[in-house]
Amino acid sequence: MSLLIIGATGNLGRQIVKQALDEGYQVRCLVRNLRKAIFLREWGAELIYGDVCILETIPRCLYNISGVIDTFTTRPFDTQKSIEIDLYSKIYLIHAAQVAKVYRYIFFSIVNAKFYNNVPLMNFKVQIEYHLKESTLKYSIFQVEGFFQGIIQQYAIPVLENQAVWTTKETISLAYIDTIDVAKITMKSLNNPKMEKCILPLLGNKSWSSTEVIILCETLSGQTVKKRYVSLTILFLLRKILLFFAWTENIGERLSFIEIFTKPIMNKNVLQNWVQILDTDFMTINRIEIYLQDYFNRILQKVKTLNFEQNKNQNQNNNAKIDKF
Ligand SMILES: NC(=O)c1ccc[n+]([C@@H]2O[C@H](COP(=O)([O-])OP(=O)(O)OC[C@H]3O[C@@H](n4cnc5c(N)ncnc54)[C@H](OP(=O)(O)O)[C@@H]3O)[C@@H](O)[C@H]2O)c1
Repeated sequence: MSLLIIGATGNLGRQIVKQALDEGYQVRCLVRNLRKAIFLREWGAELIYGDVCILETIPRCLYNISGVIDTFTTRPFDTQKSIEIDLYSKIYLIHAAQVAKVYRYIFFSIVNAKFYNNVPLMNFKVQIEYHLKESTLKYSIFQVEGFFQGIIQQYAIPVLENQAVWTTKETISLAYIDTIDVAKITMKSLNNPKMEKCILPLLGNKSWSSTEVIILCETLSGQTVKKRYVSLTILFLLRKILLFFAWTENIGERLSFIEIFTKPIMNKNVLQNWVQILDTDFMTINRIEIYLQDYFNRILQKVKTLNFEQNKNQNQNNNAKIDKF
């Protein structure tokens, strides 16, 4: 099976490329920046220039492709509008995939998106789910809540850099999952007939509130975190301002996710659905504690080595000065 992966430079996309290549698939990646994607070619993937907002670049990427894996989404600081990337181009891609007689199609949505119509990205996800259901494609839709990798940016780096972590008093819990596990599950689903025309929530083995994640980061890094609380009223106001300017619109749309705090929905009974359908051992998926411990160990080891090198250089310089004297 030859796969077209779009969004291959992203957190999830790159893990899917790696897993697919490891399993012997032919992988083609549509990328808008060839230089940034060079590592994918080094891994063994074929790169082809395209930009999902330039619709004409899509059909030629589908030539001889039997499976499409769509992992692309708007970056917060993109100048392109999220409606173009997360809605219009995806509708076009679904159409083009049908014309190209693509055999399998994978899309990543968000858990409970249908309950949050005011959040643009959630709204687009629901619309794309609908278009897939109406299509002739053998699709699988995986609904996700959050990736481990997002925790690094949001919590782990501020903790290590001794910066404040911003959070709200209101809290919801998310069942984060490792993108490496999502990649493995995705590949497993490709040849599984039970996964055709199927929607499946993909959740990690435990739900974590932001406070719990912060405490975990403190414990594992051995550092104390400065917490700053921001009220939902301020965030709603900030969203209004950001949405007003075209160049900050995507950030404003991301902020729309605060709606979730005002209307939390529990869905934890679906936690292990995918384990049964995909016949996977739930115990083998990565745990947040292990993932973060590994991250902090690697970073703290690097800092130690750097300090050691700096001290060594300093001592050598001092000795040289003493010798001269
Ligand atoms: N992150 C989460 O917590 C989360 C939660 C639920 C669902 N999901 C869904 O999971 C999927 C993967 O998310 P992610 O966090 O891995 O995404 P990500 O890291 O933000 O990566 C986005 C990818 O889309 C590409 N892209 C954006 N605009 C493009 C364009 N105009 N043309 C071509 N490529 C374009 C980016 O390319 P560049 O490198 O060139 O920018 C990048 O490869 C998405 O569908 C997302 O909505 C994510």
